[in-house]
Amino acid sequence: MSSPEQKNEAKGPNADQIEYWNGDAGEKWARHQDRLDAMLAPFSKALQLLAAVEPGERVMDIGCGCGATTFDLANAAGDGGSTLGVDISGPMIARAKERAAALRSKAEFLLADAATHDFGTRQFDVLASRFGIMFFDNPAPAFGHMRKTLAPGGRTGFVCWRPFRENPWAALPMMAALPHLPPQEPPVPGAPGPFAFDDASRFHDVLSQAGYSAIDIQPFDAELTLGAGADAIETALNQSLEIGPLARAMKTMPDAMRDTVSDAVRKALAANVNDGEVRLPGAVWLVSAKA
Ligand SMILES: C[S@@+](CC[C@H](N)C(=O)[O-])C[C@H]1O[C@@H](n2cnc3c(N)ncnc32)[C@H](O)[C@@H]1O
Repeated sequence: MSSPEQKNEAKGPNADQIEYWNGDAGEKWARHQDRLDAMLAPFSKALQLLAAVEPGERVMDIGCGCGATTFDLANAAGDGGSTLGVDISGPMIARAKERAAALRSKAEFLLADAATHDFGTRQFDVLASRFGIMFFDNPAPAFGHMRKTLAPGGRTGFVCWRPFRENPWAALPMMAALPHLPPQEPPVPGAPGPFAFDDASRFHDVLSQAGYSAIDIQPFDAELTLGAGADAIETALNQSLEIGPLARAMKTMPDAMRDTVSDAVRKALAANVNDGEVRLPGAVWLVSAKA
């Protein structure tokens, strides 16, 4: 099997992720943007507190997706500041631009690879991201490239997932589905994907190699609402089958097996309804560092 570096030589940096986020995955994130924003809201709030953007600051939101966190960061930066959301996904950046117009937000959006795009040097005071920094083929050079865009004294605020087993929002549906799925390749530790930085010491090493100082990584836990109201269980089921690790595993699944998997996941989710909502725990790292 070829390494990400070998693949790069043939296809260019982050080619697999660019293809992935411009295909079905990006379309689904754009389509379900409202629901995903509601589900991930506790981590938006945590990012705002971590980044602590002051009026007048210049901010880049890395892997900004459909822009939820970019709008919050732009509000904090105020009229005297600026906020640029950067993402490789055409469908998600298009959705972010539509929302910016509707909200009359000052946030700007750019379709680009944050790991390689020439942003110039010393352009930003803050690099922020909610779940947009775990997808680089070569993380240390990518974070080093982005560090050069920070002004002296600049800082980062990143939110990324802790290990899969500590994240029942992803693990519970997957475990329920597993007996009905074709044999799965074991995940490669640290490979680009949602859990690439589940190991805090590895993320610390990556940032340190990239030249950051004052690196601080703290755990944070919150409940994710996967579904609410009359259709809580079906909403949570669609969410689990369409987005996240189970959706990735089901991409190549024959249609005939989908009903069996759906039934198993529905049963597992139904056992987690509280006050009419399907809520499951999520566990992240809050990561800050200086340029
Ligand atoms: C899990 S989604 C999170 C989106 C958004 N931050 C949110 O919380 O809703 C990950 C995002 O990272 C983006 N991404 C992945 N690699 C990237 C790269 N090299 N440069 C910019 N964006 C990237 C993807 O296109 C996707 O929008």
